[in-house]
Amino acid sequence: MKPTLPFLKPILFVFTLLLISCTKAPQIKGGVVSAMPYASQVGVDILKKGGNAYDAMVATNFALAVVYPVAGNITGGGFFVYRNADGSSGTLDYREQAPNAAHRDLYLDEAGNVIPNKSTIGGLAVGVPGTVAGTLEIHKKMGSLPLIDLMQPAIDLAEKGYAITEKQARSFKRYRDLFIEINGPDTFYGQTFEAGDILKNPALGKVLRSIASEGIKGFNSGWVADALVSRVQEAGGIITQQDLEQYEAKWRDPLIFNYKDLKVISMGLPSSGGVCLNQMMKMIEPYDIKTMGHNTQKSIQLMVEAERRSYADRSEFLGDPDFVDVPLNVVLDSLYINKKMSSFDWNRATPSSEIKPGDSYYFESDETTHFSIVDDQGNAVAVTTTLNGGYGSKVFVEELGVFMNNEMDDFSSKPGVPNMFGLVGNEANAIAPKKRMLSSMTPTIVEKDGKLYLVVGSPGGSTIITSVFQTILNVYEHNLPIQDAVNAARFHHQWLPDFITFEPNQFEPSLLKNLNDLGYAGEEKKSRIIGKVDAILVDDSGQISLGADRRGDDTAVSY
Ligand code: DON
Repeated sequence: MKPTLPFLKPILFVFTLLLISCTKAPQIKGGVVSAMPYASQVGVDILKKGGNAYDAMVATNFALAVVYPVAGNITGGGFFVYRNADGSSGTLDYREQAPNAAHRDLYLDEAGNVIPNKSTIGGLAVGVPGTVAGTLEIHKKMGSLPLIDLMQPAIDLAEKGYAITEKQARSFKRYRDLFIEINGPDTFYGQTFEAGDILKNPALGKVLRSIASEGIKGFNSGWVADALVSRVQEAGGIITQQDLEQYEAKWRDPLIFNYKDLKVISMGLPSSGGVCLNQMMKMIEPYDIKTMGHNTQKSIQLMVEAERRSYADRSEFLGDPDFVDVPLNVVLDSLYINKKMSSFDWNRATPSSEIKPGDSYYFESDETTHFSIVDDQGNAVAVTTTLNGGYGSKVFVEELGVFMNNEMDDFSSKPGVPNMFGLVGNEANAIAPKKRMLSSMTPTIVEKDGKLYLVVGSPGGSTIITSVFQTILNVYEHNLPIQDAVNAARFHHQWLPDFITFEPNQFEPSLLKNLNDLGYAGEEKKSRIIGKVDAILVDDSGQISLGADRRGDDTAVSY
C-alpha cells in the first residue's frame, strides 16, 4: 500500500498558488504603438539600441512616411506633444501653413461661392509642408542618436520594400482611378497591388537619403524642392521654393488642465484639440459619469451635450493664434463653461440651433495617423501627423515618390460653409499667407498623481477630439484595460450637423431609440469607424500596457 499524506495536498496547493502569484509577467520597459507593424518595430529597435523616445519618434515618423503613404508623410504636417521623465513638457507645431500667394477668397468663384473640390483635390489644395522641419527640429533638440541611424530603417523599407497588408491593398485599389485621373496612367500608385506584394519606393528612398545627409536643405532646396514645386504648380498650385525655405516649426506651450486628479497635457492652437478637450472634460466634471456607466444612455447624453457646445465654440473662435486673438481666457473660464452647460436638460436634447444656427454635412475619412511612445526612462511622446484626406490632394510627385497634402481644406473657405469634415468656421480660421489652418489633432499625455499615466491620440478629422475624450474616460472613469478602451465602440457629435454618429452595430437598438425619443437624431453609418486610437497606459504600480486600435493595422510593440 502507498503511503498517503493527505495533509500535504492543501500545503502543495497553497504553495503552487504562491508561486503563480509571484511569477509576474516580465516588466515592459516601454514601447511604440502606431498604425503599421513595421513602423512600431522600427521605433522599438531604436529604443532597444539605447535611443530615447524622441529618437524613436524620428525613426517611426520616417518609417510611417514609407509604409503608410495614406497618411504617414514627409509632405504634410503634424503636432508633437512630449513629457520628459522629470515631468517637464512641451509641444512642437509643425502644421502646414498657407503659401505666400494664398488669400482669403482662394477657393471662391466670382459670385463668391466655394468652388467644389478646389481645396481638397489638386495642387491648390496643398499647404506648405512642415513634417521634415518638425522632425529634424525634434532630433536636433531632443534626440541622442545620429540622424542617419534613425533614418536608415525608413531608407531600407523604401529601397528593399515592405509587404502590403490586406487593408492597404484595398485602399490602393479604392483610390487607383483617382490617382490616375490626377497624375496620369503611368503614375506609381497606378500599378495594381495585392496583399503580400512587396512595395519598393526607391524615389522616396533617395529623398530620405538627401534629408539624412543634408538636413532640411536636403528637402527645401535643390532637386527635391525643384521637383516638389514644379509638380504642385503643374497641378494648379501656388507653392514656391521661397514658401518651403521660409517654413519654420514652432515650439509652443502645451495646453494643460486638470480633470479631477488628472493633469492633461495636450496640443494648443493652431489645433483645436486641446482647447475642445479641456472644455468638454470640464463640462462633464461635475457629473458622476463613473456611476452612469460606459456607453449608457446617460453618459452618452452628457458627453454629446458637452461635445455639441464645444464644437460650436470651435467654429466661432478658434484659429491660428499668431494671426487672430483667440479669447482663450473666456472659452476656458470655468464660469463660462458651467454657464454653457446650464441649458443641458436630461429630458430633452438641446437642439444645436439653440446654441448657434448653421448648416452642415459630414464626410467619412480616417486618414491621419497617430503614434504613442514611452521609453525606459519614462519619457513620453504623442504625435499626430497627416496629409489631411487619404493620400492628401492625390497629387503625386513621381521623382520624390510622395503624395502632397490637402491641408488647405482645414481653413474655412467661406464663413459658415462646411469643409470635408462638415466643420464650419469663421473669420478666425480664414485663409491668410503663412497662416496655419485650424486642426482637430489631439496628441495628449495625461498625468495622474504627478506620474505618467496615459499617452493617447487618434486620426479621424473632426472625430479625433471626441475619440480622445472617450478613451481617457474609458480608462479613468470606467476602468477599462487599455486595449479594451481603444477598441470600445465610439460615438460622435460635433454641433453641426445636429446628429450623433454611432459606429455601426455596436449600440443596442433600444438605447438608440431611447435617445431618439429625447430628440437625439442618430446615424449608424455602414463602413463608418470613428478614430483609430493608439495609446499607452502606465498604471499606479508602474506597469506599462499598450493599446493598438482594432480598426486598422495598428500594432503595439514593446520591449
Ligand atoms: O488637422 C486636422 O484636424 C485634419 N486635417 C485631420 C485629418 C484627419 O484626421 C483625416 N482622417 N482621419
